[in-house]
Amino acid sequence: MARIVVLTPNPAVDVTYRVDRQVIGETVRVRSVQRRAGGKGLNVVRVLRVLGHAAAAVQPLGGEAGRWVQDQLLAEGTESVAVPVGGETRSTLAVVDSAAHPTLYAEPGPQVTDEAWTRIGAAVTGRCEPGGVLVVSGSFPPGTAGRHVQALVTAGHRAGARVLVDTSGAALLAAADAGADVVKPNAAEASEATGVADLDGALASLRRRGAAAVVVSRGAEGLLAVGADGVPVTQPAVPGVHGNPTGAGDAATAGLVAALVAGAQLAEALRWAAVLGAAAVCRPTAGDVRLADLDPLADRLPGAPGARIPFPAVPEQRRS
Ligand SMILES: Nc1ncnc2c1ncn2[C@@H]1O[C@H](COP(=O)(O)OP(=O)(O)OP(=O)(O)O)[C@@H](O)[C@H]1O
Ligand SMILES: [Mg+2]
Repeated sequence: MARIVVLTPNPAVDVTYRVDRQVIGETVRVRSVQRRAGGKGLNVVRVLRVLGHAAAAVQPLGGEAGRWVQDQLLAEGTESVAVPVGGETRSTLAVVDSAAHPTLYAEPGPQVTDEAWTRIGAAVTGRCEPGGVLVVSGSFPPGTAGRHVQALVTAGHRAGARVLVDTSGAALLAAADAGADVVKPNAAEASEATGVADLDGALASLRRRGAAAVVVSRGAEGLLAVGADGVPVTQPAVPGVHGNPTGAGDAATAGLVAALVAGAQLAEALRWAAVLGAAAVCRPTAGDVRLADLDPLADRLPGAPGARIPFPAVPEQRRS
């Protein structure tokens, strides 16, 4: 049983190639290769750990690559629950050169059958705790239907957990339909899934479908949310933050989750999300944050000068 359970539906071996220059159609010499266990939910787990929360990570894993991911997660100290699936866990390849944005190649991942979905659901709910939070984060693998996403939300609720879903497309709509407590797309994902370009309209659409709260992250523009009372809440981002925005959304999700567990209201949870998102931008590795960065970033948050955010970490850790 765990207070926070994080499902990564479509994990990957994240491979990063550093090259001098990427030239399509030519042989490109790779300067360095990095591999790590990837998937948005796993980023959330790592950020939660920095905040002092040991989350259980559940993910379908298959083949040699799946075993490698499981070994990596256990070595990192993650309580990792591998649900065996057929096929081979996918890879994603990021090719980084001097261009502003790396080029990312994302494999679809192995097919997940109905039977595997049943086992994933059981693995998740067997670990959820009443009053805890189930986080579902990242894309879904081939073989996923709306009913699988809905079953996850329902199962989380039945186990007494609140359910937060950060995904896109049809899966995002299915999570809202199933009455997820929080859905957290970014602005592009919210508009694309609902077909509503205007952000307020996209939020309203996800709420009408059944999501209790909708939190939309907007990069350097901060966050916009609507909770149970239907009143929009805006949270500006921390100003003057520069760096690597990849994984900022996962850190923001971890901030929301930590705030939920601490009993924070929506407006306060958004501040945590903004601080954690900014902390991730400050770090070169996607989805990484440093505890020591949080208080100074919180001090720079517009709107509440001097207000402290009670990050749920022990003070000794926060100074390290
Ligand atoms: N340049 C920035 N400056 C300050 N804060 C930022 C910046 N970029 C992101 N953030 C913070 O992080 C939050 C999440 O970022 P963003 O909206 O880019 O997430 P995302 O698109 O879901 O990212 P990903 O899915 O790659 O993790 C934002 O709402 C914002 O508060
Ligand atoms: Mg995101």
